[in-house]
Amino acid sequence: MDKYLLSHIGIAVSDLERAAETYKLITGSHPEYHDVPDQKVRVAMFGATGEGYSGARIELVAPTSDDSPIAKYLSRKGEGLHHICIYVDDIEARLSQLKSAGAKLIDEIPRIGAEGNKIAFVHPAAGHGVLIELEERS
Ligand code: CO
Repeated sequence: MDKYLLSHIGIAVSDLERAAETYKLITGSHPEYHDVPDQKVRVAMFGATGEGYSGARIELVAPTSDDSPIAKYLSRKGEGLHHICIYVDDIEARLSQLKSAGAKLIDEIPRIGAEGNKIAFVHPAAGHGVLIELEERS
């Protein structure tokens, strides 16, 4: 397995299509769209995925309903940097290490993320002010 640390940077946006138009210009690329009904969000992922890619991506995240966690985030803080996502080899093992160390977790049990991989969120209190997403790369 390769050792890329950063999967993506998540940016909370209120209007996905509008934000995606801007980020198409910024990145010079087209996104892949994914619905994540579990989290009541739709995302636009910029940057290559799959075998052989070599860099971190940008994920625009927009709420699909008013009770989405992202809707609450936007109403409190507005648009902007929301989370960074770190690759891990074994997400259950990493979560249990963090838990043993007393780190505050949002997800103690992984769920399935936008791209079908196991993910879990670590609370910003544990991430020194940054919401961290862990992702087990399949
Ligand atoms: Co993410």
